[in-house]
Amino acid sequence: MSGLDFSDRIARIRVYPAADGYALGEHVALLASNEAPFAPLPEVAEAAARAAAGAHRYPDPSATRLRKAIAGATGVGLDCISVGNGSCDILLAAGEALLEPGREVVYAWPAFSMYPHLAESSGATAVEVPLDANERHDADALVAAVTPLTRMLIICNPNNPTGTMLDLAQLTTLLEQVPSEVCVVLDEAYREFVGEEDPDATIELLKKHRNLLILRTFSKVYGLAALRVGYGLCADPALKVALDQVRQPFFCNAAAQAGAVEALRHAEEISRRVDQVRESRKQLVDDLEALGLHCADSQANFLWVKLPDAVDETALVTSLREREILVRAGTPLGGPGHLRITIGLPEELARLVTALGELLP
Ligand SMILES: Cc1ncc(COP(=O)(O)O)c(C=O)c1O
Repeated sequence: MSGLDFSDRIARIRVYPAADGYALGEHVALLASNEAPFAPLPEVAEAAARAAAGAHRYPDPSATRLRKAIAGATGVGLDCISVGNGSCDILLAAGEALLEPGREVVYAWPAFSMYPHLAESSGATAVEVPLDANERHDADALVAAVTPLTRMLIICNPNNPTGTMLDLAQLTTLLEQVPSEVCVVLDEAYREFVGEEDPDATIELLKKHRNLLILRTFSKVYGLAALRVGYGLCADPALKVALDQVRQPFFCNAAAQAGAVEALRHAEEISRRVDQVRESRKQLVDDLEALGLHCADSQANFLWVKLPDAVDETALVTSLREREILVRAGTPLGGPGHLRITIGLPEELARLVTALGELLP
């Protein structure tokens, strides 16, 4: 044998298309990873720094203060709230807890690039259901794809990378049709950016659907991506126990816990930031349409932009990068011929529009 003999799992797991560009200069416009363009609020940064000063102690393994703060903000019981090293941590834990060879996980495609990983790492079968003609989840097709072997159905709402969403009525109908032994994971990483519905309206669904898991994160609207903190709202407390059971004990660091608790105290400022993102989103749609580009109907902090057939996606992304503007190419996200553009600061988006105006035929 010439080297390490990796498990079959490693052969199955695709390499996650990680964003790069973090080593580029100060002036780079980071429009590739759907982060907030604003720094954390000073009070939040201070709370995290205070916690870091006590870093010789392990963090609270139960994250009780944070879970209490989330319970206060959402009305969900403490025994149904799981926190983690980003919401990805909880997504992966759900995969560990529910999937294994012979079982199936159903999700729309293109959607968040971590979903295929759940099947690859567990040996379960991935059932990918194409988005409809408007780049939305096809609720009927998703329900039809569920079989007696299905153990998880993931709905990314708003969907990454398209930004499109199912509304509350559509979600309610979908949930009513899914058998109770199938865990429905409602990934709401971008829920706060939705303009047309109360972001918390979906939390009510937990009361009726014992198989529901809602995922939320502090990485996006709260601007805490680097701290790594997210949470899961479980309808069934047994799911919370299972999610904790499959992970190492200290899955949420002390600075993240403290920063997130403080962030939840600033709902007004956060909603001002959401308004700003929504305004910039509208402006960017107008500007891109003026350049002849089509954007999917995004309710998130990014746009999914269809490129004209004559445009080479890779060459365009490279040319933008040379101008210190980073966006995501569609191909690695499952949508060739597209760009995914994060809603950055107005001046960054203006630079992008100018560059696209020069680069597009
Ligand atoms: C749909 C979706 N879910 C979850 C996540 C993960 O977020 P976190 O930083 O909380 O792990 C992302 C991050 O981009 C995402 O797009």
